[in-house]
Amino acid sequence: MPKKEQRRLRIGVLGAGQIAQAAHFESCTKAANADLFAICDVADDLRERMAVTHGAAKTFADYDAMLADTDVEAVIIATADAFHVPASIRALEAGKHVLCEKPVGLTVKEAFDLARAVEASGRVFQVGHMKRYDAGLQAAKAFIDTEMGELVALKAWYCDSTHRYPMTDAVQPLIVTSANARKPSANPKADLRRYYMLAHGCHLIDTVRYFAGDIVSVEARLSERAGIWCWFVDVEFANGTLGHLDLTVAVRMDWHEGFQIYGQNGSILGKTFNPWYYKSSEVDIFREADGATHRVLGADGHFYRRQVEGFARTVLDGAPMTGADVHDGTASVRAMVAIARSVDEGRRVTLAEVTGGV
Ligand SMILES: NC(=O)c1ccc[n+]([C@@H]2O[C@H](COP(=O)([O-])OP(=O)(O)OC[C@H]3O[C@@H](n4cnc5c(N)ncnc54)[C@H](O)[C@@H]3O)[C@@H](O)[C@H]2O)c1
Repeated sequence: MPKKEQRRLRIGVLGAGQIAQAAHFESCTKAANADLFAICDVADDLRERMAVTHGAAKTFADYDAMLADTDVEAVIIATADAFHVPASIRALEAGKHVLCEKPVGLTVKEAFDLARAVEASGRVFQVGHMKRYDAGLQAAKAFIDTEMGELVALKAWYCDSTHRYPMTDAVQPLIVTSANARKPSANPKADLRRYYMLAHGCHLIDTVRYFAGDIVSVEARLSERAGIWCWFVDVEFANGTLGHLDLTVAVRMDWHEGFQIYGQNGSILGKTFNPWYYKSSEVDIFREADGATHRVLGADGHFYRRQVEGFARTVLDGAPMTGADVHDGTASVRAMVAIARSVDEGRRVTLAEVTGGV
């Protein structure tokens, strides 16, 4: 493991549920420049068990009490989506840096409210789009930024698999649940169309924005047949790149995620794995300059730990943010709303139309 550095960010994790147990607790304990300092959850059984398992120095049942602790320097918000914005704003107002799970919010209005709070706070705020810490995607991004020249076209797909649970159950720790856990008043899975877009679509949108930048407009079609939700989205990027997205939940096959990018001086083909295998994407970068294909191994595929380290480097060392900031998170929410509206209204929708009133 990376050797622990002397100065480490003291992180408090809000929420001891699925994502915290599968990713954030271990990421904080393994991170070179951070520690799992505190765990906060209203569920006493869950919180205390996780504190013992992961060795957190302090535990809190009450979020405000954790925020009042001056030893806590930053928080990870690992709660249901509905709580992201209020919990983030409270943390920023308490002077904490924030790494918040995706999607950053449920509506454009609350994402804008959060963006204002981030600006007013002067604190570091990052969204948990951990795919930006996949070494394969980072190699693609470096090629795009330095050598690829004009981007011409980008296709990207994110197809969840009907076989995902046997796969993740095999590699994740046993997830401990509690009847005392706090859940949002409305069941997020009551509307699967919306739920799938928020849970999965935001990963796909952030990945393509990472590569090709801002999205200007979308034209989307949705098929709901045979228990499969399949969105095909034609995307117009601000830099003129032609874009096509395929979000399908769930394909009758293995996890199927990847991208193809064509540019002036080369092409990129990427295959991404189910994240819980912690395997960096296989990304083949063909360079016209030497007529050869290059592929980074990315031996360290712990995207979640690398995300915590990147966040901590920004907080502790003032390093430029390597993850998604609040504007990236907001742009993803706007794109998701635009896609939903395009499906409903059968027309191309510009992101400029999707304002805080939504
Ligand atoms: N990045 C990824 O790959 C990825 C994967 C899965 C889930 N997620 C995201 O992670 C988030 C959390 O999902 P989950 O399934 O772990 O949620 P969960 O509901 O299982 O766990 C959340 C926990 O937070 C606690 N909690 C909520 N509000 C609280 C409060 N105010 N004070 C104290 N405790 C509080 C609850 O009691 C619960 O135990 C979601 O936004 C989801 O989209 C991200």
